[in-house]
This record gives sequence, C-alpha cells and structure tokens, in this order.
Amino acid sequence: VSRDRIDVTTDSATYPIVIAPGLSARLAAELDDAGIGARRVLVSSPTVWRFAGNTITAALPGTPLILVPDGECAKHTKTVGRIYDGLIDTQADRSTVVVAVGGGVIGDMAGFAAATWLRGLPVVHVPTTLLAQVDSAVGGKVGVNHPAGKNLIGAFHQPRYVAVDPLLLQTLPRREFRAGLYEVVKYGVAFDAALFATLQQHVSGIFRHDLDVLAPIIATSCRIKARVVMEDERERGPRRLLNFGHTAGHALEAITNYRRFRHGEAIAWGMLVAAEVSAARGALTSEARDALATLIRALGPLPPVADLDATIALEATRRDKKVVDGRLHYVIATGLGSSAVVGDVTEDELRAALIKTGLRG
Ligand SMILES: NC(=O)c1ccc[n+]([C@@H]2O[C@H](COP(=O)([O-])OP(=O)(O)OC[C@H]3O[C@@H](n4cnc5c(N)ncnc54)[C@H](O)[C@@H]3O)[C@@H](O)[C@H]2O)c1
Ligand SMILES: [Zn+2]
Repeated sequence: VSRDRIDVTTDSATYPIVIAPGLSARLAAELDDAGIGARRVLVSSPTVWRFAGNTITAALPGTPLILVPDGECAKHTKTVGRIYDGLIDTQADRSTVVVAVGGGVIGDMAGFAAATWLRGLPVVHVPTTLLAQVDSAVGGKVGVNHPAGKNLIGAFHQPRYVAVDPLLLQTLPRREFRAGLYEVVKYGVAFDAALFATLQQHVSGIFRHDLDVLAPIIATSCRIKARVVMEDERERGPRRLLNFGHTAGHALEAITNYRRFRHGEAIAWGMLVAAEVSAARGALTSEARDALATLIRALGPLPPVADLDATIALEATRRDKKVVDGRLHYVIATGLGSSAVVGDVTEDELRAALIKTGLRG
C-alpha cells in the first residue's frame, strides 16, 4: 500500500501530513510513534461516526468521544460551545489532544475549540471528506460562521498531525466526493499541469475509488496546499492563488443563500468564469479554456446558473474578502498549471465572463 508523508513547516509549527489507505485503523500506533499525547479526545459528528466510528473506536479504544452535528448550518459558536462542554465533561487538560474526525465543518469547529480552549490544545485532523483531505485539514485555518457571514470567527491553529486515509472516502456521497474533486481541479489549473493531465486521464479510475489513482492525487493536492501555506502562512502573497475560481464561486454561493451549490460546485462555475476572464485577456488560450470546461463537465453534473443574474452576482463580489482597499485581487489562469493575481479586472470584464459562462445578462 502507498504511503506518502509531507512535512509542513510554518512559522508557528512543524507537522506531518501522512496519506495512506488504511491509516485510520492504525491511528494509535501512528500518534504514539509521533509522540502525540497519551490523553486524547475524539470530536466527530453522528453522521461521520456511523461510517467511520467502528474503525476509529477500534484504533483508539477507550478514547472519550464528543459528537456534535456537522453540515454548514451547524457551523456556529453554539456548536463550538457544545465541544467546550464535552471537554469539561471529559476533564481535558492542557496535555489533551483533540482528534477531529470528519469533514471540513468538524475540522474547522474542533480546530477552533482546540485553538481557544485553555488558550490552545493540540489538534490532530482525521479528514473524512475529499474536500477536508485535500484542503481544509491543511493550513491551520479554523473557525465558524457568524449570521453575518461565513468563517467570520476564526484563528490560525496548526495541527500536530494530519492523518489522511483515502479508504474513509468510500462511504462519501457522490456529490460530496465531486465537490472535493473541483478543488483538486483548482490545484491542477492554478499550480500543476501534471496534476491537471492526471485528472483528464483518470476520471473513471477516480470515480471507482481506485487507490492507485486516488491516493497520489490526494497526496499531490496536499503537497501543493502545504507548499503554498509554508510560503505564506497568513495569506499575504502566493496563498491568494488558492482563490482561483473563488471570486465568482463565492458570489454564486452567496446569491443562492448557500443552498444551491456545494462549495466545490460553486468553485467549478467560478473557475469557468475565471477561465473566460483569462481567455478574454489573452492570458489563456481558448484551447486551454475549453479543456478546463471539458474536464469540469466530465466530473459533473453541476447545479444550474442560467436563472441567476450576472449583475446580482457582480454586486456580491464587491462584498468579497478579496477586495482590499476597494481593489479586487482576482486570480487568472495563465495556463493549465499556472496562475497569477491581478488587480485590474474591471466589473465589465467580470460581467462579460459571467454571461459567457451562462448567467443571465
Ligand atoms: N480551514 C480551511 O482552510 C478550509 C478550507 C476549505 C473549506 N473549509 C470549510 O470546510 C467546510 C466544508 O467541508 P466539507 O465539504 O467536508 O463539509 P462537511 O464537513 O459538512 O461534510 C459534508 C457531509 O459529508 C458527511 N460526511 C463526512 N465524511 C463522510 C464519510 N466519510 N462518509 C459519509 N459521509 C460523510 C458529513 O456528515 C456532511 O453531511 C466549509 O465550512 C468550509 O468553510 C475550510
Ligand atoms: Zn474552496
């Protein structure tokens, strides 16, 4: 079986990301070997626990368990409060390691609870969605939503260890799996031509969960995110390239009240918009733009955008966090595997690209 290890060094910490099928079943030995905490507490959700609970319980027998709901609508301070209550009940102290088992919502909430409880407990991530394995479990961002907006409450809290087990994805609903794949496409387009080509060549292997295909794709994605995070822990420079597809994507999520699209699906549309902007500027060839559209279609279907208004989407981009001093930092593709941040994309350009992608003019 394959085993990949990426060592992430940031200003604040060094930690390994280990990617190996079956890893979650060997968690105790892995954590013991890494010298991580004799005292542990698990945080997960009832849904995740239904699928992964047996494996994790067998791997970490006798470890206290805190179950809280997941899904975007549970990602708020009240749920974090329930994690704090659980930490009290299990008599967690400064040496207790929080082991988060779940998707991005559990990882972000448990990570935030760990970051703030007693001014910081160590956290281990065991991501169980593709999105969490390739994205949210790497980089140290943790937090929750506020009624006024997504992820407004948060912190940077680097994990001590990230255990990525691709076998855990076998129970993931198809749609969740695809939503994560679009973020992998993002890594390909923005950073890595070979990854993009691998995705093009192995669509059926990916959906068969062929581990010889899937595990290296996950490892490559983690490596890219880790590299970018290492260069730029606090999102001042290169980390912005991770936002490829996210300007229009976030707008689509916002104007549909976060109900129509899984995040990755909105990003898929957002990447198509960004490819149009890039092509219109002559930064990307029309062949490359079409290749991206073909790949996204092959991984599809996506919820529709034809009934959405380009002007309303445009207004939503003005409220985006990527607007700094009134200027939108927009990520364009300069090839299938390279990207750049530009500060001069006009609203007219964006509107034209939104309409070309299929929104109403
Ligand atoms: N911290 C970061 O850097 C970062 C980066 C990207 C996204 N995020 C956050 O991640 C969140 C989205 O994460 P997500 O897409 O994983 O959503 P999620 O955590 O809500 O999981 C999606 C669904 O899949 C279920 N599930 C999880 N694992 C499963 C499994 N193995 N088998 C069957 N079902 C399973 C969950 O119960 C849930 O219903 C968002 O809140 C987003 O803000 C954070
Ligand atoms: Zn994203």
